[in-house]
Amino acid sequence: MTRLPKPRGVLIAGNWKMNHGLKETENFFSELEKQTRSVFSADFETKRNSLRVCLFPPFTSLIKAQSEAPRLSSPPVLIGAQNAHWEKSGAFTGETSGPLLRELGIQWVLIGHSERRQFFGESNSTVRKRTESLLLQGFHVVLCIGETLEERKTGKTKEILAQQIREGIPDLTSILKISRESNLGPELIVAYEPVWAIGTGLTASPSEVEEAHQTIRHLLSEQIGSDLSKQTSILYGGSVTPLNIDSLLACPNVDGALVGGASLKTESFTALLVAGARTV
Ligand code: PGA
Repeated sequence: MTRLPKPRGVLIAGNWKMNHGLKETENFFSELEKQTRSVFSADFETKRNSLRVCLFPPFTSLIKAQSEAPRLSSPPVLIGAQNAHWEKSGAFTGETSGPLLRELGIQWVLIGHSERRQFFGESNSTVRKRTESLLLQGFHVVLCIGETLEERKTGKTKEILAQQIREGIPDLTSILKISRESNLGPELIVAYEPVWAIGTGLTASPSEVEEAHQTIRHLLSEQIGSDLSKQTSILYGGSVTPLNIDSLLACPNVDGALVGGASLKTESFTALLVAGARTV
């Protein structure tokens, strides 16, 4: 298969969900360091800026992950939180905020994961508030969208994606443009995660994924403008493994992957990073 250049580079993100406490986090990084050292050769340095890696551990392991991540430099691993509130402080039991995460040096946040939508009442409206506030605070926000099996079966995929984008993504044209120009600060990344593919072993086929990503890019251009839409990384998530990542990354509009299960073990995560490095 002919590989097309990846204009937006590749981002491999791992969502640990409610897994990996302190000891497991420490072991993970120590193993990952050994494994990546043996497979990433010196010529990887030339690709450093094209392959980005981010992990989203549970809140209680964030500090540990932040202190362990610098073990890895090739490729460097960024650490993100799995959620954050739109207010900066206040009476919001069980939540955390941008400033609290900033204190730990965290710059990335996952918003609107389907498990938050399904089990914790997250709606497009709360997703929008979180996204807007965190982007304004300079975070990189990975915003998750995707249809359920029922919605796909009844031909509603496009309608649902359109609604999630229209209602969940604020018009932040100016702030995102400024950040792009200064090469600093906030970034919006969209993760397309069909709910029926998450944790099920079922993956959308590359053609289904490419079609959805094209639709998302078109919808984004209506929401945040064509230039920003072209610059926005769109990740695919849902049962991504070392066995299927190549065919997914070969899709022109797939700019990386958001990975749950296969990000928990260093062997599979390393294999995903190697696939990412091969693509950029
Ligand atoms: P999975 O999870 O890779 O285990 O399907 C993906 C996700 O929930 O982000």
